[in-house]
Amino acid sequence: MIVETLHNDSWAKTYLLIDKSSKKAAIIDSVFGRHEQDLDFIQQNDLDLIYAIATHTHADHVTACFDLREKTGCEYVMYNNTVSLGVSKYVQNGESLILGNSVLTFYFAPGHTNDSMVIRAGDNLFTGDFLFTGEAGVGRDDLPSGRPEVHWKSLKLLDNFSDNLMVYSGHDPPNTEMKSLGWNRLNNPVLNFNNFEEYLSWQKKQWENLGEVTKIKTAIPANIFADTSSESN
Ligand SMILES: [Fe+2]
Repeated sequence: MIVETLHNDSWAKTYLLIDKSSKKAAIIDSVFGRHEQDLDFIQQNDLDLIYAIATHTHADHVTACFDLREKTGCEYVMYNNTVSLGVSKYVQNGESLILGNSVLTFYFAPGHTNDSMVIRAGDNLFTGDFLFTGEAGVGRDDLPSGRPEVHWKSLKLLDNFSDNLMVYSGHDPPNTEMKSLGWNRLNNPVLNFNNFEEYLSWQKKQWENLGEVTKIKTAIPANIFADTSSESN
């Protein structure tokens, strides 16, 4: 399994998982408007896109999953409780999908949104906005369907995973070097809080610092209704 980080100079992370022997690929959190470049990369490398996966319903950008599905016939994969339309493959907690000789396993990780999930593929963990790198902590829980107390409880999920797994987050500063879960256990403040009160006060500071999400009014309806008519490509 190879992991390619696409658009590494951006805050919103997109990953392409490639099963070397079969040349089958899965894309995680492709962003509408730059997905044509993702498709070029897929074609140039002679890959067969099988899955376009959204880790959750994004509030800050429009997903490219439904357009990738239309253009390539791949499955659009999300967690089974999502309200987003256009999804063709709903996954449940602990369910696996096969990608050539590789296995992708999905874990329910709600809190940032109610439909957030984490994906494990070999020694790699794709965490979406459930977990970021180091000081960045985790995604904010004050956007639609976000609930801090649920996110805090979901962090227990990480107890199932060993230190050596590489964490690939959904957002981090441009060109961030992704780190292992063990490194994050030492360096991510959120993984070192002792109780929910500490977590909640950290979240509240984040909400103040981050302020309003610029694209929320267009991104949420576009993602829920699989409709990009308000989005210029
Ligand atoms: Fe998000």
